[in-house]
Amino acid sequence: MVEDGAARREEEGAEALPEVRGWLESVAAAGGLTALQELRVRVLGKKGEITQRLKALGAMDPDERRAAGERWNRVKARLSEAIEARKAALEREELVRQLAGERVDVTLPGTRPPQGGLHILTLVTNRLLEVFTSLGYEVVTGPELETDHYNFAALNFPPDHPARDSQDTFWTTDGRLLRTHTSPMQVRYMEENRPPFKVVVPGRVFRNEAQDATHEAQFHQLEALVVGERITMADLRGAIQEMAQALIGPGTRTRLQPSYFPFVEPGAEFAIWWTHPRTGREEWLELGGCGMVHPKVFEAVGYEGVTGFAFGFGIERLALVRYGIPDIRYLFQGDMRILEQFRGAL
Ligand code: PHE
Repeated sequence: MVEDGAARREEEGAEALPEVRGWLESVAAAGGLTALQELRVRVLGKKGEITQRLKALGAMDPDERRAAGERWNRVKARLSEAIEARKAALEREELVRQLAGERVDVTLPGTRPPQGGLHILTLVTNRLLEVFTSLGYEVVTGPELETDHYNFAALNFPPDHPARDSQDTFWTTDGRLLRTHTSPMQVRYMEENRPPFKVVVPGRVFRNEAQDATHEAQFHQLEALVVGERITMADLRGAIQEMAQALIGPGTRTRLQPSYFPFVEPGAEFAIWWTHPRTGREEWLELGGCGMVHPKVFEAVGYEGVTGFAFGFGIERLALVRYGIPDIRYLFQGDMRILEQFRGAL
């Protein structure tokens, strides 16, 4: 469109009208899309102020109507344009604000979800199994619910042995019991297998006794059983020595002291000479029992012409002293403050 001077003047004239200036200022000042829409309705809507003025043209005489009509149509166009421009600007501002609000700072350190880990007893057990499998032992497990036969009788406990007492053993109402040690697996394994063999048996055991810092009604043991021709006490010593060195370090000393268990002969208790991690003192750590498999046990499973050794010890005891944990009950309470300290300890 070619604008001639008259038209421009006419437009300028229209803008010069105080109400038009007022509207244009309101458009520029509209702080949001809602305010702007309200303004549009008020000025350009069906009952809007400009619409009213255009309607009023009908009452004018033709010359006046023509001039006023042109002027108000220009005003209308000018205002629509201003409103559209303001609308676009407001939408842009809104978008910028939204983007700024949603911006992610990729340089912020992330929040790590809590990570699970193996329980300290599992770690210690796994380490023990690693040591024994590397020495060629097979790992087997057995039932926690046992019979008198496997837990006591076949292990040469005489019928009146006090270990059967209900103060020590949990009995079920049908006459079975929660195994009090992992040794019943010696019998179960020998019933099912022929020598020679080397096995270790990790597992949970139960004792009905008062609980304190060093006693729990349930704990874990590791049992070892080696049977073959001409297996001797020297092999037993060697196995315990190997285990101690692998766990504590080269040169670790071990000791066997005579002791009594019905299913071994001779029987002994074994200990490891070590530096206590908390007190720094060197001392003997009594770990468990051991000995040469008793002939009565071989008899119970029908073995002839072989010898063997067995040993068994509490895994908790090893974990407690190894990591300076003062109370065995901490291991079973599920307190994350305790458990988390040993994540990846081994
Ligand atoms: N089972 C015995 C206990 O729980 C330990 C042991 C195992 C002793 C093997 C000798 C041989 O005390």
